[in-house]
Amino acid sequence: MCGIVGYIGKRSGTKVVLDGLEALEYRGYDSAGIALIDGEKSQVFKEVGRVSGLIKTISKQSDVSAPLVMGHTRWATHGGVTAENAHPQTNNDQTIFVVHNGIIENFSEIRTKLEASGYNFKSQTDTEVIPNLIDFYLKQLDSFEAAFKAALADVRGAYSIVAISVREPNTLYAARLSSPLVIGVGDGEHIVASDPSAIMDHTKKVIYLEDYDVAVVTAEKVQVQNLKDHNRIEPKVELLDFDNEQAVLGDFPNFMLKEIFEAPATIKTATLGRARADTGTVKLGGLETVLRQLKHIERIVIVACGTASYAGLIGEYLIEELAGIPVEVHLASEFKYRDEPFSRSTVLLAISQSGETADTIAAIKKVEDFGVLRLGVVNAVGSTIARMTDAGVYCHAGPERAVASTKAFIAQVTVLALIALHLSDGKHPQFKPLLKELEALPAKAQAVLDSAEDIKKIAEKYANYDSFLYIGRNISFPSALEGALKLKETSYIHAEGCAAGEMKHGTLALIDENFPTFAMATDSPLLEKTYSNIQEIRARGGPVVAIATEGNKAIKELADDVIYIPKCEEELQPILQQVAAQLFAYYIASKLGRNIDRPRNLAKSVTVE
Ligand code: AGP
Repeated sequence: MCGIVGYIGKRSGTKVVLDGLEALEYRGYDSAGIALIDGEKSQVFKEVGRVSGLIKTISKQSDVSAPLVMGHTRWATHGGVTAENAHPQTNNDQTIFVVHNGIIENFSEIRTKLEASGYNFKSQTDTEVIPNLIDFYLKQLDSFEAAFKAALADVRGAYSIVAISVREPNTLYAARLSSPLVIGVGDGEHIVASDPSAIMDHTKKVIYLEDYDVAVVTAEKVQVQNLKDHNRIEPKVELLDFDNEQAVLGDFPNFMLKEIFEAPATIKTATLGRARADTGTVKLGGLETVLRQLKHIERIVIVACGTASYAGLIGEYLIEELAGIPVEVHLASEFKYRDEPFSRSTVLLAISQSGETADTIAAIKKVEDFGVLRLGVVNAVGSTIARMTDAGVYCHAGPERAVASTKAFIAQVTVLALIALHLSDGKHPQFKPLLKELEALPAKAQAVLDSAEDIKKIAEKYANYDSFLYIGRNISFPSALEGALKLKETSYIHAEGCAAGEMKHGTLALIDENFPTFAMATDSPLLEKTYSNIQEIRARGGPVVAIATEGNKAIKELADDVIYIPKCEEELQPILQQVAAQLFAYYIASKLGRNIDRPRNLAKSVTVE
């Protein structure tokens, strides 16, 4: 998704904004631009490609310091990847500059209206209507602020917008609807950004804008008004709880490998202070305020997207087994349009790493008037979903920068196991064994990481196949789905997850010597059945890579290659399986020379529907 950084203050904002855009690079984008205003003087620079290209262009300029600066990294939605379509977009007489993240759904009717009033358009973007609409109202209203608000009132869609103008050289205007925007509060300066990571090197004090908020920002002051009820709001300053060094690569070649190797620490921080094997307790502070309602849950509906939805499917197995509560998992993008029966004893549980995924936000909004409890399992503290839900459990995995989610998935499944144990009230025979397993899990994840070189050798053997099948049974079936997604989104090799028992109902037709299978074959009461599936595949010449439990010798007779993981309670095996599957996908993608942290066509946080 697009990245926004704006600066207003007593020093020059140019480097602050450019550094901020680089911090947002992990979000994925295809062009970048910046506008600078110093009194009546304005400059705009736009480049297709990386922020580094923009920095290079600016470094050749003589004077690029300015107290009012705004920058943008664009992930194309409307219009091709060109400098013309890069942001900032301006009004016809180049006095108003706007950057935008999101989609203006009614931009073509606004554009027609403005063309009828004599405006012309140079870009193919939806964004370009905004500066011209502000200009249109500025001719009728007595202030820029009034014109900015009037323009927003005409706009339908999802947006985070920042506008600056040579007519208001001491003020920055910001607005948000369904797309995140946060204001960093500095000493005699303010930094507006679509993500705190662009701010945290300068200040940890932030103001989160809510939907329909409009902020008028000067070097000294932030005034916020909500356009839905027109209330003036006293901005609430909060503190960020992580900083950039957590996200610094260290000696890893990229964020994805760094984040895979954070699995042991991730499991530790997700369980820290929450699960105690010695006292047999599970304490989830984020659910304290809703403990009474949790006692009367009759059904849980999980909504999520992508990797988070596969974590949700694993959560379904865990909660149904341990707490005996019916659970169903819906892809958020589908849930929005379903007529799903909801009773007051149904709980909605949203799972999201970024906390900004538009589809998941829309799913939560859908049940707003149902009067049901809405919980979140979120990684990004203070994110929209974290603030929309009634309660929840943070993943505490720290910033996840690679587009392919790895440690966040590990954290999500760990947290879902904690929630299942919490809801079980300690009554299930697996309660204590699983608390014990959670304590041992970081070391077991480390053992898988220690075999990375072996996994790499196996992975590189399979780097040139065009397709892959991932199979698993029971709780390892969603693990197979996630393994397939990881391979797809990092290596661009087609991969399909399939319940092992389903193979004979059609998928087996795919199998031949050119179609390998990745089998989750760890210890389980169903292992013999998985063996049969592997034999079905081998009988048709299909190569098989199996993940198996240490000590299993029989698997060596069945599979071409075996990746061993430590013995582990079946309910938590997907965590160790996925550490291995993430490495498998990573090494294939590396072998193929893919853009590891920013795979083509993808963005880290999909803030548009
Ligand atoms: C995960 O590898 C993908 N990048 C993607 O499927 C992601 O899980 C999905 O977009 C949901 O994102 P969220 O967890 O931030 O809501």
